[in-house]
Amino acid sequence: MAKIKIIQKPCQKDAAKRPEVERVLANREVPEILKTFAKGRYFYIRTYGCQGNVRDEEVMAGFLSEAGFTRTYEQSKADVAVINTCAVRENAEDKIYGEIGAFKANKVRNKDFILILAGCVMGEDGVGENLIKTYPFISLVIGTHDVHKINELITDYLKEHQSIINVHSFSSEVVEQLPSVRLNDTEAFVNISYGCDKFCTYCIVPFTRGRERSRHPDDVVAECQKLVDDGYKQITLLGQNVNSYGLDLKDGTNFATLLARVAETGISRLKFLTSYPSQFNDEMIETMAKYPNIDHWLHFPVQSGSTSCLKRMGRRYTREEYLERAKKIKEMIPDMSLSTDIIVGFPGETEEEFLDTLSLAKEVGYSSAFTFIYSPRPGTPAATMEQVPPEVSHERFNRLKALVDDLTAKHSDEMIGKTFEVLVEGTSKRDENVLSGYARNGKLVNFVGPAYLTGCLVNVRILESHVYSLKGEMVEDPLVVKARDVAFHMKHDKLLREYSRLSEEIANDEEIKSLGEELVEAKKELALSMGQESHKEKKAHYEEILNKINNHPLLLNRDALHEAVEGELLAIRDILK
Ligand code: 5AD
Ligand code: SF4
Repeated sequence: MAKIKIIQKPCQKDAAKRPEVERVLANREVPEILKTFAKGRYFYIRTYGCQGNVRDEEVMAGFLSEAGFTRTYEQSKADVAVINTCAVRENAEDKIYGEIGAFKANKVRNKDFILILAGCVMGEDGVGENLIKTYPFISLVIGTHDVHKINELITDYLKEHQSIINVHSFSSEVVEQLPSVRLNDTEAFVNISYGCDKFCTYCIVPFTRGRERSRHPDDVVAECQKLVDDGYKQITLLGQNVNSYGLDLKDGTNFATLLARVAETGISRLKFLTSYPSQFNDEMIETMAKYPNIDHWLHFPVQSGSTSCLKRMGRRYTREEYLERAKKIKEMIPDMSLSTDIIVGFPGETEEEFLDTLSLAKEVGYSSAFTFIYSPRPGTPAATMEQVPPEVSHERFNRLKALVDDLTAKHSDEMIGKTFEVLVEGTSKRDENVLSGYARNGKLVNFVGPAYLTGCLVNVRILESHVYSLKGEMVEDPLVVKARDVAFHMKHDKLLREYSRLSEEIANDEEIKSLGEELVEAKKELALSMGQESHKEKKAHYEEILNKINNHPLLLNRDALHEAVEGELLAIRDILK
């Protein structure tokens, strides 16, 4: 068997440790050996699971790009491939075996091929070692706490040529100044906290992502401000439980104040995931109501509608408390859409408990819901509880699904005839004349429109409901929408902003002003001196001032930008043609 270098093995028991958290800066140095290897080589990343994994992909892509690798979306072209796994639901480990097999061809073709396994599954005890035993060509196994070490670990591998396992089960760090290559230039995800302290009895997350650590609010706001300045239209704040954000900082920071600060950056649309019902307090509802750029959509996972089942799940609220929160939210923000996650067949779930879930879903009137059949996660308390027979779970799942479809359809039907602002994500896979995007209530809307509206905010009237998506029509001229979008981007464009800033500085510069006045005066004197002895001297004086103006650093700087700005504006004119 291949030798494995173990830097750190996962230990699910360790995950419950609560170390003192330290803010550290990412090591962005690229060693020579890595730089040389990366030159002309391609990386490929495949991500499964939640937005937390998507964000990890962006960070890993950032590190790999800094090393000098080029991104590819073709698996066969990859010299370095990352499989970013998800452990939340069923058979995660089994699925990975198939995935890895597919990369064997890369190794056969290219002996330098590097395969990296990352993501939550790697946090489960023994998984990395088992995988390497079966597939000795796996180069690295990296834990979710270690994504920022990807370049260091590849460097180790290049030096030592043996498989490496580096999976920490807890982290005492919040790493800042991470490089990242964002997957989208309109919508961005921003982590506000890592890990989770709730330890719901079915959930693997606290074991794979560790205890909750909040980022400093100034770091979060600075990242969001930069996204706004770069022309992003939507930010989604991410945390396993956003509502407990900041409590670990013990300095009065909390989620409502952070949300308000991010809303004040001026981002067009702001959302957040995921909320924990009993910690979603009135201050948070008031903040959502106060800022018009915060979407009226709240993902509000209930998991079960039965107090006794919630207790076994380790959820820290009752059915009544959940309903009270949902009622309060709808009272304060009447057009709020609530979506949820529900697990059926949790250990010991009785028919009565299940019926409580159905009645709660009806009472809340969800706009949509993710429904899951319980699956035991190794090492979690619920995995050892008495399990519900699969046929019972499946039968309940079908009943729940039918109800969720009805509720979703009802919510969608109520949108017909109304107009919603849609952020266009792109053209539909099935028809390139159709655009797709999300309304502020979280619903998917399709409508006929030109592809150049991708990334724009468009007002769309809803015509038909197809339950999980809606069909609408634009209520504005596409060119007017595009012009509005161009104006938005011009306001955010770095070149144009610099050009405008310099123009303003020039307009207010006392020295340039007086040089201008001197030039007018000198020109007058030059004209009057025509044919006189002093003409030569006046000419020299005039030219001297002109020279000073022409060589003034502010004017030179603006002139240097002129051509680029002109090129950009002409390109916009061509798009609008
Ligand atoms: N079995 C089934 N569903 C689960 N979820 C989390 N863990 C499990 C599990 N062991 C669901 C929860 C959670 C969502 C992301 O996944 O509903 O909110
Ligand atoms: Fe898992 Fe519960 Fe934490 Fe959500 S709140 S991540 S379900 S432990």
